[in-house]
Parts: sequence; structure tokens; C-alpha cells
Amino acid sequence: MALLNDHYLKLKAGYLFPEIGRRVKAFCDAQPAAAKRLIRCGIGDVTEPLPPAVVAAMHRAVDEMAARESFKGYGPEQGYEWLRAAIAQHDFRSRGLDVADDEIFVSDGSKCDCGSILDILGRKNKIAISDPVYPVYVDTNVMAGHTGEANAAGAYGKIIYLPCRPSNGFVPEPPKRHVDIIYLCSPNNPTGAAATRPQLEAWVKFASEHKAIILFDAAYEAYITDPAIPHSIYEIPGARECAIEFRSFSKNGGFTGTRCAFTVVPKSLNAETQAGEFKPLHPLWSRRMTTKFNGVSYIVQRAAEALYSPEGKEQVKSLIDHYLGNAHVLRAGAKKAGWKVFGGENAPYIWVRTPTAVTSWQAFDKILDQANVVITPGSGFGSKGEGYFRISAFNSRANAEEVARRFQELKW
Ligand code: MLT
Repeated sequence: MALLNDHYLKLKAGYLFPEIGRRVKAFCDAQPAAAKRLIRCGIGDVTEPLPPAVVAAMHRAVDEMAARESFKGYGPEQGYEWLRAAIAQHDFRSRGLDVADDEIFVSDGSKCDCGSILDILGRKNKIAISDPVYPVYVDTNVMAGHTGEANAAGAYGKIIYLPCRPSNGFVPEPPKRHVDIIYLCSPNNPTGAAATRPQLEAWVKFASEHKAIILFDAAYEAYITDPAIPHSIYEIPGARECAIEFRSFSKNGGFTGTRCAFTVVPKSLNAETQAGEFKPLHPLWSRRMTTKFNGVSYIVQRAAEALYSPEGKEQVKSLIDHYLGNAHVLRAGAKKAGWKVFGGENAPYIWVRTPTAVTSWQAFDKILDQANVVITPGSGFGSKGEGYFRISAFNSRANAEEVARRFQELKW
């Protein structure tokens, strides 16, 4: 008899967003009239079309693929050199950060990379994860067998949870105990909080002292408006020796459906072997990519490259301004409705305290039922997310304004 991976059976219910999708479908089937006025502020999926510079680059690339002389088959698994160079130059070196072209690994998404990185890390690491958190960090560790069972609140044995609350500005502090792997996401999904330089310095210090590795998810860095907030973990001295950074074109270039992202693995980052030797992770990640991945399509990599052209940068800025404008409208609407509101200033997510005695899923049902608006229940991001919900600012301006208006009519 073939054996299955028992660890999958420890996972709680479905992945959060398919679960929301199921509930929304049930609502729409039961109430077709209300379904017509449904506005989705649940999953953080972009709504605006691709920037014109990207569309033009894709058209050119399609034409190249249509001619024998310029046709491309397999590309380098780690990404074309010209894209790796554009990323390293524009996202890092132009900001004074020391990142080499071949430390950039182009992929089809940060979600995949955050999960796949576990392939090159040992099985006995002590893993620290914020709570609430992007569910992928937890679930991929469950799937890999790094955790125990979940308790009634959905917290898994063996994971060291780092609570994020209003008292720490939703940015976790280093724990008082040893951990080996730390997941940090800044600007944060779901809370919208962004870690300050001193907070990131404290984490790099902790990681250096503990020979730990920080997995730094910076998928939302383009939303940072506060000039004092670091865009990259490599702005912190010492991070090249203790951090891997994940970046994405999904939320800045609108690539959620186009798929392109990258991971930075510095050559100076080492981890320990079973025998106690320190070895670099860079060749392991490269080896993993060449074995398990065949690269992002040529057309999509040309599209990503166009984001770094002068017009591409302008167009990305307009997209970010648009979504941050929505965040401003939604924040103001939620505040006017009398709710306690966090985030939404350096991130496209607004994190809202539910009224007293209302659970996250009760808030979800109430807002869906009365306002016909989909939000995300905070408890789906972890036990400390209970009592909160997340509003995504990815929408048209008209929808953001309508949602802000409907919030005023809610009766708890
Ligand atoms: C979210 O809504 O949290 C995001 O869409 C998740 C993701 O980017 O995978």
C-alpha cells in the first residue's frame, strides 16, 4: 500500500482563501439579488490592468517567440541574466545595497518560494512565526512535518509563535529563547504594520547571535510611504549573513495572474550541516531551482523587465498610488464607522478590531450579509488574529468608496 504524507492531515480545514470562496459562493447562490452588489475586499488580488509598458514588452516578446530567429526554448532556471541584472541594479545597488546579479533567483511567485525554501533547510530547525501571519508560512511547515498537531485555537505544536498585538505595533520582538528560522513579513500581511529600522536591527542582531536565518517577505515593499522604513532587510548591516529576502511583482506590477517574483539568497549566507560545518545556502538553492523548476516564461520575464524602464517605474507608482488611495478611503470609512483601525498607510491592508464580543467569522458573516462586502476574518491568519478582520484595498476607487459608505450602515 502506498503511504500518503500524514502531515497534510494535520492541516486545519481548507486554505483560508478557498474557504472564503466557498462561503461567498454559498451566499451568492442563496441570495442572487444581493450577489449582484457584492464587492470583494477579501483576497489581496489586484484589480487594475497591467501597466502599458508591460503590455508592450509582452507583445514584443510574443512576436519574438513567433519567429524562428528569435524563438526561445528553455531559459536559465534561475532567470535570464538581463532580468537578474535589472533587479539587482534597480531594487538594490541603486539604493546602496550590495546584491549581485547571481544572488537573484527569478521564480513564478513568492508563495511558491516561501514554501520551497524549506527544501534546502534542515528538518530539526526551531521555527518562529508571527501570529497573525500569512498562512503559507505555517501550512508549508506543517506539510513538511516540522510541527505537531494543531490545538483548538489552530496553533501547531513545535512552532514558536510570536504574538503581534497593538502593544507591539503588530511587529514581533525577538523571543527570549533560541530559534533557528524566523519568518518576518514587512510591510505585513495581514496587519499592514511595517517594521522600523530599530526593530529590524534587533532581529538581525538576534539572528546573528543565534546563527539563525530570517526569511524576510518583502512582497509589499512598494507600498512603503514612510521614508524611515527599510524596503529591504539588506539595509540592515549583517543581514547578508543571516537573511533570505522574497520579493514579488504581484502587488507592485499587478502580476498576480501573470506570475513573476524573485528570491535573494546572498552568497555570504551559511547554515550548519549535521556534522557541524557551515556551508553556503546559495548553491543549494541554485541546485534546487535547476532540478525542480524550468524557469519563468520568456514573455513574462520581458514583462517584468519592463517594470524597471523609466515609464514602467512611473506606471508602477500610479498603481501603488491608486491602491494606497483606496486604503486611505477605506481607513477613513472604517474609522467613521467607529472601529479601531490599524495599517493601510504603508501597506494595502487595513486591520480592524471587531466590535466587542464579535468573532472574526461573525464579523465576516455580518459584513457579507448586511453590506454585501467580502473581508477576511482575522482568525484565518492565526489564533491572535481572532477579534480582527482584514480589508484589502485592491479594488477600483468607486468600489472602495462604496464599501466605505456601506460600512456606515452596518448594525452589529
Ligand atoms: C492575501 O490576500 O493574503 C494574498 O493574496 C495572498 C497572496 O499573495 O498569496
